[in-house]
Amino acid sequence: MTPPTADRDYWEDRARRHGPRAAGYSDTAMDAYEDRLRQSAIERLLGPGRGRSLLDAGSGSGRWSVRMADNGWLVTGADISESLIALAPPAPNVTYLHGAIEALDLPAATFDAVLSVTVLQHITDDRHFDAALDNLARMLRPNGLIAVLEYAPLRVIGHVPAYMRARSRGEWISAFTSRGFKKRSETGIRFLGHGPYMLAVHLARLLGHPDAQLITLRAVCRALDLTLARVPGLTLVADVRLITFEKVQR
Ligand SMILES: C[S@@+](CC[C@H](N)C(=O)[O-])C[C@H]1O[C@@H](n2cnc3c(N)ncnc32)[C@H](O)[C@@H]1O
Repeated sequence: MTPPTADRDYWEDRARRHGPRAAGYSDTAMDAYEDRLRQSAIERLLGPGRGRSLLDAGSGSGRWSVRMADNGWLVTGADISESLIALAPPAPNVTYLHGAIEALDLPAATFDAVLSVTVLQHITDDRHFDAALDNLARMLRPNGLIAVLEYAPLRVIGHVPAYMRARSRGEWISAFTSRGFKKRSETGIRFLGHGPYMLAVHLARLLGHPDAQLITLRAVCRALDLTLARVPGLTLVADVRLITFEKVQR
């Protein structure tokens, strides 16, 4: 399937404008705040690799590919943006591939696990989204795990930017369960700490203070969010979440 040029062009343009940072939030304070929460969720739900293979689907500039390899996974990072792949740092046990998820032509059952961090939500054409999920399912071995970290509120309300196709939590779950996956685990990413911290950042900027002065507040807000992420049931109120699914052997 030919990759959708609008999506690819969007990421190529972002890579030109922002370099390796193109794959994260444009706001550096927001990126740094949430990054730690995402890392904790991924480590908790996926665990160490112990030599197992992982596809980092939509690897961008390699942030998760390198971290997952550091945590014992043999990683293949694949991305639709040639520029972002070129910006990804070489690392032991990481191989990068240029290509759209839906077009990756690797053998069936190649990977023990798949990780996708805010990527599938950026496939704006539903036919490509379906083809991407089918191809991920094909490349994953039976009983393998797929972990998707995406914007997945209980209900999608309000304006959604053109570079995203927003889906509710229920839509994400049914996209995988309808393909024979079983939901294994779920956690929210950001909770009560996120709002006050970002408000303080914006106020500090208005008053001409650097974000660095808010390190203590950031640590407190993050500690709160890291704690709340472990409270069973509370995950439902999060808008960004990590869900893992197992490919059930048929
Ligand atoms: C928000 S960035 C996230 C990158 C990386 N996962 C991270 O968290 O740093 C979204 C990434 O998805 C990639 N992408 C979008 N559509 C894709 C597709 N169909 N196949 C592969 N990569 C895609 C973009 O090029 C971009 O690198």
